[in-house]
Amino acid sequence: MYFIGIDLGTSAMKLILTDEKGVILNSKTEEYPLIFPHPGWSEQEPGEWWNACLTGVGELLCGYDAAQVAGIGIGGQMHGLVTLDAQDEVIRPAILWNDGRTAEETAWLNTEIGKEKLSALTANIAFAGFTAPKILWMRKNEPENFARITKIMLPKDYLAYKLTGVHACDYSDASGMLLLDVAHKRWSKEMLEICGVTESQMPKLFESYEVIGTVKPEVAGKLGLPAGVKIVAGAGDNAAAAVGTGVVGEGGCNISLGTSGTIFISSRKFGVDPNNALHAFAHADGGFHLMGCMLSAASCNKWFCDEILKTKDYAGEQVSITEDRLGRNPVFFLPYLMGERSPINDTDARACFIGMSMDTTRADFVQAVLEGVAFAVRDSFEVAKSLGIAIDHSMLCGGGARSPLWRRILANVLNIRLDIPQTEEGPGYGAAMLAMVGCGVYESVQACADALVHVTDSVAPEAELAARYEEQYKKFRKIYPALKTFFQEVK
Ligand code: XUL
Repeated sequence: MYFIGIDLGTSAMKLILTDEKGVILNSKTEEYPLIFPHPGWSEQEPGEWWNACLTGVGELLCGYDAAQVAGIGIGGQMHGLVTLDAQDEVIRPAILWNDGRTAEETAWLNTEIGKEKLSALTANIAFAGFTAPKILWMRKNEPENFARITKIMLPKDYLAYKLTGVHACDYSDASGMLLLDVAHKRWSKEMLEICGVTESQMPKLFESYEVIGTVKPEVAGKLGLPAGVKIVAGAGDNAAAAVGTGVVGEGGCNISLGTSGTIFISSRKFGVDPNNALHAFAHADGGFHLMGCMLSAASCNKWFCDEILKTKDYAGEQVSITEDRLGRNPVFFLPYLMGERSPINDTDARACFIGMSMDTTRADFVQAVLEGVAFAVRDSFEVAKSLGIAIDHSMLCGGGARSPLWRRILANVLNIRLDIPQTEEGPGYGAAMLAMVGCGVYESVQACADALVHVTDSVAPEAELAARYEEQYKKFRKIYPALKTFFQEVK
């Protein structure tokens, strides 16, 4: 039996083909454009995702016996607002998780409805990237579009809908809409009312490993798939990545250095951060998790190398960062290229380099970017620690995890051991695992993770280097408070 895991990412769709023992037989990446119509806005055409899926699945199966495909799971970028009209046409480009246009709506929700009430209804407060403020933005700014909405969905659910015709969502991804009563796993009627939408516009809810339907015959024909391929509900990309790195059940931790950077702490029981700095969401294993999300992580390095240094040789740029410079870089980088979510929740914040002098080198800048991202991950890590959560090691996945230097910097900035699983394709692998559970190959997500996920490498912190980074982190922490009002003034 074969399984397809799809990671509907922000810069590309990554598809993997596995057998039921979790061996990755083939993988493909289909890139698509991001649209930035205004500074701080971020959109994508859902049609691009569908095209990527059509091409990607075709290429993935090339040379393999497609008749053996039993199930498909999708993990997707969270929070994006996709709206369809009565003819199932996409009404406008999707507004993505890293879009900052909803500062006004977010403030309105947090002050007028109030953080306490939002937290009681949904276990979370409003952040600009969440779906509910986007719905309010559309209602106010595009009333004609808003009036045409018959279906509201998240990015991966659009793909599942095109494949099956079933309007479904799983609890992990639904948690990030600010419309789900996370504790009770049902839509919050009050929140739907506040946003001016009805339950009939919302998807039906499932656990991530539950089968929502099968691929429609006409689509199966196009994709070269056999009849009856099952689609599971799938998960938000972070929950899918946690499954893919074996972070299920109680007290596991996964850090992802993807376009976004996240720290994900799994838990069997529902729990809320009393200050709501960490998100309290459902997990794809049937349990729950707390999560801190920074909006720009590996994307900072990609931006700096692609746009500023004009190179694709990311590893080459890191070669001249010498041992003696680690933990001693006078240059600091604030990684807020798209504003920031966790823990500062500030859409006006922006990236900056600080501390350069005439002897600053190109390598110092590259190093500052890697370190700035690690320091920002530490900010959310500190919030978790302040809640009494003890983390002495974590899994690490995402494109950034491919860099041995970045792994080492992060392990020392956090002063914990980082474990690397056999594949850094966290979300796609986790999505394929969910499909295996849905098709009955494993009896639970935990059993699947126990059987399939292995640690292949570990990076331990080094006492002296960790101590140097402790001092550097103290300096980093002073930068944002010093610039906060400046960011507000110049926006
Ligand atoms: C999580 C979040 C991001 C996106 C990236 O809350 O917004 O991690 O899911 O794909």
